[in-house]
Amino acid sequence: MISSNSIAKSEQIRESAIDFDCWYVVARSTEVTDKPIGVTLWKLPIALYRDEIGVVRALEDRCPHRQVKLSSGEAIGNEIECTYHGWRFDSEGNCSSVPYLAENQKLPRCKIRSYPVLELNGFIWLFPGDSNLAESILPMGLSEWDELNYIATVSIIECKGHYSYLIENLMDMYHGRLHDDYQAWASAKLENISENSDRVDVLYEAQSYYKIDRIWSISQLFFPSLRRLHPEPLKVSYVYPHWASSLGNDFKIYCLFCPIDETNTRAYLIHFTSLNAFWRLHKLPIWFRKFVKDSLFGAAQKMLDGLVRQDVAAIEQEQNSYLKNPELRNYELNRAIVSVQRLIKNRAKLANVQSSQN
Ligand code: FES
Ligand SMILES: [Fe+2]
Repeated sequence: MISSNSIAKSEQIRESAIDFDCWYVVARSTEVTDKPIGVTLWKLPIALYRDEIGVVRALEDRCPHRQVKLSSGEAIGNEIECTYHGWRFDSEGNCSSVPYLAENQKLPRCKIRSYPVLELNGFIWLFPGDSNLAESILPMGLSEWDELNYIATVSIIECKGHYSYLIENLMDMYHGRLHDDYQAWASAKLENISENSDRVDVLYEAQSYYKIDRIWSISQLFFPSLRRLHPEPLKVSYVYPHWASSLGNDFKIYCLFCPIDETNTRAYLIHFTSLNAFWRLHKLPIWFRKFVKDSLFGAAQKMLDGLVRQDVAAIEQEQNSYLKNPELRNYELNRAIVSVQRLIKNRAKLANVQSSQN
């Protein structure tokens, strides 16, 4: 029998806002150049560009003159120039020049918002909340990104669904069935949950198809016939607002979130294959190890993209069903989902209190 507590109250969760006082990921490093791009983080349009020394800048994506998108303009030195009449804005968001300003006219005092932004482990992290807090709150980062013993693969998730569907999908390891053809993991069994106001950690015992203990084991990523099921601990964590996981010692996977609005989420899934089992690698020259890491970048691409396609299809069905019939209730048996929803609601509540105080 299912208790009333375990029935997810979907109507409260599927419209939850985000807690703005966190570092979100808005782009890959490679996406941001001196040609500005526009991104959206929870309904905030943001223009990103690199200044003349390569530092990434983030401004509200709106020219205050006539509300044209600044991301359609150009980066000039440290500034961004609007495409329409050529007004320029510095990296703090102040209007710094107007090409046709008459001698008797002053520069308009039309400041737009600038956001704390930093480049870390291959991604652009942005703090959309109270910028006074940005320095005291650390971005999650991806410690394996620059480590020579990890091979990375990145897949972009574009999903027409609320971010809660995506994090629930990532925390609920009972959906291995959906990915049977990619042989990701099998037979998950929840062993333990712990939670606090920042995170939910869940331990499953599961079966893994992969064992990376020989140099040729990497070929298991390409040839299913080489895979053998064996038990491994599967740890998944909602490190609000992102996700981190590990399967045994061989794999670590992260998902970096950029919720766009109530029905759209962008995210980056990063898969790391560990080479730590090969202790002799440490004896090889750094340049060679770097060459191996770079050459194998994307080794798990086909699998990762396939998993993403299947997850996104399921999540979008959930979202569509909710939009058509919001009164329908889910029946949830996985305690991890109850914890995840509690964390989302608590953080969204906090965000509401903060915005009502401002
Ligand atoms: S709209 Fe941007 S300069 Fe006029
Ligand atoms: Fe999945």
